[in-house]
Amino acid sequence: MKTLIAFYSRTGTTKKIAKVLAEKLGADLEEIKDTVDRSGIKGYLISGRDAMKKKITKLEPARFNPADYDLTIIGTPIWGGNMSVPTRTYISEQKYNFKSTAFFCTMGSSGNEKTFSEMEKAIGKKSLGTLAILTREAATDNFSVKVNDFLEALKI
Ligand SMILES: Cc1cc2nc3c(=O)[nH]c(=O)nc-3n(C[C@H](O)[C@H](O)[C@H](O)COP(=O)(O)O)c2cc1C
Repeated sequence: MKTLIAFYSRTGTTKKIAKVLAEKLGADLEEIKDTVDRSGIKGYLISGRDAMKKKITKLEPARFNPADYDLTIIGTPIWGGNMSVPTRTYISEQKYNFKSTAFFCTMGSSGNEKTFSEMEKAIGKKSLGTLAILTREAATDNFSVKVNDFLEALKI
């Protein structure tokens, strides 16, 4: 199955998981890039507020077209109990190009279930699977069982 992994990562945690998935699947990797500076405390505050308001942003152009892939796996950090603003924007721009989707997120503690169901709703199709990894699991490389279960469920 030709697979694209599209992810946003502000501080590298979601990127770490995206790279592991890409390596295991031989998938192409699309890093969703925002034109807004989200660094530092100011960036943190703006990002949390805008995520809760379900705002969108201006992204840099995508490198890959999801329509060329059987499956797009979309990854986001959880912000204020929601998907990140750049991920929401990517989904709204690309939703008609997805053939099928699966989702993953990284988070300090919670917000995955609501976020995944909102991602499904935004795309209008049921996802093939979901994977939620805690920031501390990513930091300590303690996620291989979850990743393997996710890939097993996708049957790829
Ligand atoms: C603005 C902001 C809001 C956040 N809100 C939540 C939250 O509601 N729940 C949670 O578990 N983690 C929350 N976090 C923590 C991140 O989801 C977590 O650190 C994630 O792994 C960061 O991924 P990244 O390094 O790929 O950006 C938040 C982080 C940021 C920057």
